[in-house]
Amino acid sequence: MNISESSAYVEDRSPGSGRLRPRAAFTSDAPVIPLDGAWRFRLATGLDDLTEGLPEAGFDDAAWELLEVPSCWQMAGIPGKPGYGAPAYTNTQYPFPVDPPRVPEQNPTGEYRRAFDVPDGFPIEDTVLRFEGVDSCFAVWLNGIRLGDGKGSRLPTEFDISSALCPGRNVLAVRVHQWSSGSYLEDQDMWWLSGIFRSVSVIARGIEDFFVRADFDHRTGRGTLSVRTTPSARLSIPELGLIDADPAGPYTFEGVTAWSDEEPKLYEGSLTTGGERVGLRIGFRTVAVVDGVLTANGRPLTFRGVNRHEWHPLTGRTLTEETMLADVLLMKQHNVNAVRTSHYPPDTRFLDLCDTHGLWVLDECDLETHGFAYANWRGNPSDDPAWLPAYLDRAERMVQRDKNHPCVVAWSLGNEAGTGQNLAAMAALIREHDDSRPIHYTGNNESGSYVDIYGLMYPGIDEVEAIGRGREQRTTDPAEDEHRRGLPFIACEYAHAMGNGPGLLAEYQAVFESHPRLAGGFVWEWIDHGIAQVAEDGSPFYAYGGDFGEEIHDGNFVADGLVFPDRTPSPGLVEYKKVIEPVRIVIDASTRRIGIRSLHHSRDTGYLRFSWTVEDDGKPVGSGELSVPPVAPGNETLVPWPDDLAAAVDAAAKEASGCEVWLTLRAALAEDASWVDAGHEIGWGQGLLRPSTPPTDFTLAAALVREDAITLGVARFDRRTGALTRLGALDLEGPRLDVWRAPTDNDELGLAAEAAAWRAAGLDRMHHRTLTVEPGPSGLVVSARLAASGSCSGLGIVYRWTTRQAGAGADATGLRLQVTVTPEGDWPVPLPRLGVSMSLLGTDADVEWFGRGPGEAYRDSQAAGRVGRFRSTVVALQTPYVRPQENGNRREVRHARITTSHGPSLLISGLPVIDLTARPWGTAALAAADHHNQLRPDGRIRLHLDSEHHGLGTASCGPPQSPQHVLVAAPATFAVEFAVD
Ligand code: GAL
Repeated sequence: MNISESSAYVEDRSPGSGRLRPRAAFTSDAPVIPLDGAWRFRLATGLDDLTEGLPEAGFDDAAWELLEVPSCWQMAGIPGKPGYGAPAYTNTQYPFPVDPPRVPEQNPTGEYRRAFDVPDGFPIEDTVLRFEGVDSCFAVWLNGIRLGDGKGSRLPTEFDISSALCPGRNVLAVRVHQWSSGSYLEDQDMWWLSGIFRSVSVIARGIEDFFVRADFDHRTGRGTLSVRTTPSARLSIPELGLIDADPAGPYTFEGVTAWSDEEPKLYEGSLTTGGERVGLRIGFRTVAVVDGVLTANGRPLTFRGVNRHEWHPLTGRTLTEETMLADVLLMKQHNVNAVRTSHYPPDTRFLDLCDTHGLWVLDECDLETHGFAYANWRGNPSDDPAWLPAYLDRAERMVQRDKNHPCVVAWSLGNEAGTGQNLAAMAALIREHDDSRPIHYTGNNESGSYVDIYGLMYPGIDEVEAIGRGREQRTTDPAEDEHRRGLPFIACEYAHAMGNGPGLLAEYQAVFESHPRLAGGFVWEWIDHGIAQVAEDGSPFYAYGGDFGEEIHDGNFVADGLVFPDRTPSPGLVEYKKVIEPVRIVIDASTRRIGIRSLHHSRDTGYLRFSWTVEDDGKPVGSGELSVPPVAPGNETLVPWPDDLAAAVDAAAKEASGCEVWLTLRAALAEDASWVDAGHEIGWGQGLLRPSTPPTDFTLAAALVREDAITLGVARFDRRTGALTRLGALDLEGPRLDVWRAPTDNDELGLAAEAAAWRAAGLDRMHHRTLTVEPGPSGLVVSARLAASGSCSGLGIVYRWTTRQAGAGADATGLRLQVTVTPEGDWPVPLPRLGVSMSLLGTDADVEWFGRGPGEAYRDSQAAGRVGRFRSTVVALQTPYVRPQENGNRREVRHARITTSHGPSLLISGLPVIDLTARPWGTAALAAADHHNQLRPDGRIRLHLDSEHHGLGTASCGPPQSPQHVLVAAPATFAVEFAVD
């Protein structure tokens, strides 16, 4: 056999040969031989290294290694060293010369062999071999007979094996090429991984295909059902009284429950023919664009969505059903109602789970040609007729596979594939097959006249607002412009969740909710694609681009999810959950009423239980239930405080604690749902019932100059530098002005590239110089200056230390610090933070605080922080972003207690509030680390007390920081009080 000739299909633009027509994915009771498990495997270096005789049944593969199928071969040795080849990450660039349809000579090729037995009685005369997903191109032989070849990695391929299959032992051989012409259509922002990465099976063919159409008329409550089948079959849906009926119908049913994300009602039934039974799950629902508004079942639909890649840190794009379920449950538990399957159709079991638990799915085709952007889209396959069959093939395989899922609300042609006639042709083909769902596509931020949803990625808030008002910028083509003006809008990607962030979720959500044309958006993205690794010293970490020696790569841009690689929710997801909560609770203390607004799509709030808690200084002083009449979707109600709540509030008011009293109201599930247990909180609101009494002025103590120090009350200061060294029995390194933070990904990347400007201004290497130390009768005044070498600008500082005269009350140890900062010279850059930092001896400490919590929060990402009393440890306060960076801030802390094992507790009070970050390492170490395992406690606990931070934003991919969250260098004063206990 001439191997190179037989491999011509690799670079051929054709989507494949010898394949069966695409059809719906389904399971039935027809016999199946699952072929998942251990296969014989060899990785050839290229097409000149292929194994002669691989397809032959008699070929001796006993010496070959075993590889699990499904899997991505580069992930075989993970964690640790990759087994075969290595993962490689690029965002938009092709990792090979762009010379379509040619691919590198060094084209790693996985050679797979698998022997299997056909059991007695298996109907071999009518059988199909089904591959759910093979990356990127493959050829298949059964018992030496070539069945065909295929491309389109994230789509199924089937071959008729009726004439090749034999009773007893059979041998399947598959050659999988890492690169192929198909790779040009699969330039998604993710790791390049290869292999038979989804399941393989031999299926006895019975029912070939069927298409369920189940519409819902919201005016009448009527459901209409019709099922097209090949060959003919009988339909039963006992719950609807349909038994052994002709599937074609159409049948109408009065008063059906419509399917929606909130009530994913599925009517179970079956299709039967010739002894085969296919289970059906019918969801009635109608999606339509009405007057430019996206609707489902007659009501406006607003996506609170996420973009989901398939990812697992150990297995790459091969997921178990448990992992898929984990994603669905986590999404549901965080109030997410929609998923864009960026940027390819997912494993079909994921769609089954979305049907079951209720998530709207924007099903996206396996298509991206982003790398052509570097040539200004010259030669883009999307506009080249030679690629048309490959485009149509992908569209058809997606629609045929997924058409029967009620969760699929719209089709997406793909992602970032520029523009062109092939995309228009895909849309036309999809409409021919299925006219019941709208079509979305946005490439290069342009939408063609062939789409039904206007989508943009990373629009600014103002731009979304303008679109909501119908005042978007005109396009060059008037016809296209008019078409677009009539479309609903989605931000198909926004709020880039890379590293610490995204900020601005609340601001975006407010705009989405204020214009019916805006159908919401999908945060980029669900999960960090970190790869589990173990360092030489045994410490675990997550790898990102560049960690496998890639020639070109895009670093940690692959770690931009709302959940960490191990699926722990990041603070960004917790924030998102709060911002998109479907029930909004507003407490009006003046009228003693609670406002409840429902943003539900179809369900009233009757499934929720409302409860209240009153806390004085974060300590509960009363709690109870609140009965709320069910609020219909889109409605709101005002509920007066019940008597027990009013009584608890009155009682708290009488307590002269001088502390803040807060009322918190929670809405939680009254009963178990499929996706979470009863008691799960979906929304909450808080109201301040009584502010704290401001600290009174006191008679000031004098600072005393001793031989070796200056003392002020129980505080000691260095005579020369004026730095605080000791408070009572606690040694510390005194608070000093600090404006530097370890840049976040949003600081580093993006058009404004703030971190670069900060470094250029020297903010990472500021020198502190004491100018004067002036002890006096009312305290100590230290003046200083913070500035960088080479810089003519600086920050003038006055530290004013005061304390109460001894014997003047219980808080006699209270030491107040007022810091006044005056920028000198030019300050063209914002400040990363404005506060003081200090340190204590210790590797960990207990931290208790009253302020926002329990999680991390920043000025533009603090909705999820409720005011209360929280406890943690310094180590636990760290957020392990895949690339280390600023993290862990606790916002608006009124008071905190830090307890190390090296002395008394340090008490800190904001005057009135302060942001608190505590770390077991310093900012420089944090900023220098590439991976989390490089950070080790260094023996000192660093405390940052900030009056403000620069916002987080979402600039790593998106608009620059909103002006209201920019920390401008301007004259400022803030104050904090210390004590020891
Ligand atoms: C978009 C793209 C995504 C991802 C994102 C940045 O342009 O569609 O796949 O790359 O940018 O993370």
